[in-house]
Amino acid sequence: MVAPHLGRHPDDDDEMNTATHTAATAGVDTAGAGMAQTVYLNGAFTPLEEARVPVLDRGFIFGDGIYEVVPAYARRPFRWPQHLERLKRSLAAVGIGNPLDDAGWTRLVTELIARHEWADQFVYLQVTRGVARRDHAFPQGVAPTVFAMTSPLVPPAAELVAQGVAAITLPDERWLHCDIKSTSLLGNVLARQAAVQAGAAECVMFRDGFLTEGSASNIWVARGERLYGPPKDNLVLTGIRYGLIEELCERTGIALQLRRILREEVQVADELLLSSATKEVLPITTLDGRPVGSGRPGPVFAKLHAAYQQAKAG
Ligand SMILES: Cc1ncc(COP(=O)(O)O)c(C=O)c1O
Repeated sequence: MVAPHLGRHPDDDDEMNTATHTAATAGVDTAGAGMAQTVYLNGAFTPLEEARVPVLDRGFIFGDGIYEVVPAYARRPFRWPQHLERLKRSLAAVGIGNPLDDAGWTRLVTELIARHEWADQFVYLQVTRGVARRDHAFPQGVAPTVFAMTSPLVPPAAELVAQGVAAITLPDERWLHCDIKSTSLLGNVLARQAAVQAGAAECVMFRDGFLTEGSASNIWVARGERLYGPPKDNLVLTGIRYGLIEELCERTGIALQLRRILREEVQVADELLLSSATKEVLPITTLDGRPVGSGRPGPVFAKLHAAYQQAKAG
């Protein structure tokens, strides 16, 4: 049986959200939960439909910016200190001055959540290098553009957890700084689109014969009771779930090793998992149309998924 496709669900990662140009510009509620969204732009809260950035914003012109996606459960940001640290690392990596201090970022996220009634939300934060006459080199004396919004977070459907999802393999054709959570996501967008066109939820990418990650998720390989993940280097985005999965493996007695993983090892895996802020952990049960292991979610997934639910509640 073909594993279900994730579809274009409102809880999908930023680049695959359901908000269409037409819907957004027509002022239609794009959150899918019957509540107007208030967003934050450069110091002010404003309705989503009214938020505007100038066309010379370097985020628009060059994709010159960074972002974060922070899940919140029961109105509390989950692993917020880790997301804040990664946000600061991304800013430093691309040489954009941090526009807010830690307390300022925390206040912004807290207030955005407080302004929306959804119990579970995912907060999107974006900082671009700001507005300047078009020139590749950094402009001087320009304030970064700070944008934040929140949307309802719906956990993956029970059917996906029970059956797993389909993925396809693809060559990783992105740049060599996948460790930076940059808004320049064209490589990821094209990879996800190839997966969608193949009827799959995600892709599993390889560079030089080794596993990297998915278009919007990290990928994990299980052999027996052992879990393997690619090293935390420049070829993958170190998801906030990396640290979480390390903790959950320790708690549940799963041996975890981060190392380079050959394509051949992925092809004979007992289990393949994906992880991301909005997808939590999900089993990949078919790869390129063939079953992964037994073709059913396995025991490593079951343990991690249960531990993940406990961590969310705790
Ligand atoms: C390319 C990529 N890798 C990995 C991840 C997982 O990161 P996190 O666990 O912080 O959501 C994401 C998240 O969207 C991503 O876009």
